[in-house]
Amino acid sequence: MQRFKNVILLTSFAALFLMGVSAVHAEKIARPGGDKTASCEQCHGPKGCAPVQGLIPKLCGQNAEYLEAQLLEFQDGRRPQPIMHATTKLLSNDIIKQVAVYFSKVPCSQ
Ligand code: HEC
Repeated sequence: MQRFKNVILLTSFAALFLMGVSAVHAEKIARPGGDKTASCEQCHGPKGCAPVQGLIPKLCGQNAEYLEAQLLEFQDGRRPQPIMHATTKLLSNDIIKQVAVYFSKVPCSQ
């Protein structure tokens, strides 16, 4: 079990590293603007609230379950979208869940 956890951890770190996100710990996700979501914010805007282009959706305040489901669907291609497929393909399910929870908790004020 411990070994399994390590594999997941290593995969997550590798994924985040490849995405250009700086080193991250699971705890940081609770912090607004945590490192883990920095790459997402380049397109979805600060805290996922102000997308840089009209076709990019807001993430803030959406249901965590919805966000998680979309990310998993981008990842396996059920929701075909090249950008989000590339963004999610190296993320572990664990990280996807945490990111979804993070954005769902950001109040959408914009
Ligand atoms: C290079 C730009 C870019 C980056 C980086 C990016 N996204 Fe996206 N994202 C998009 C675009 C464009 C769409 C719209 C896809 C579509 O039209 O189906 C999208 C859609 C989404 C959706 C679906 C929202 C909805 O309302 O259905 C979620 C969830 C999402 N992104 C989360 C993330 C997360 C989490 C990250 C960081 C791990 C991220 N995105 C990084 C461009 C980006």
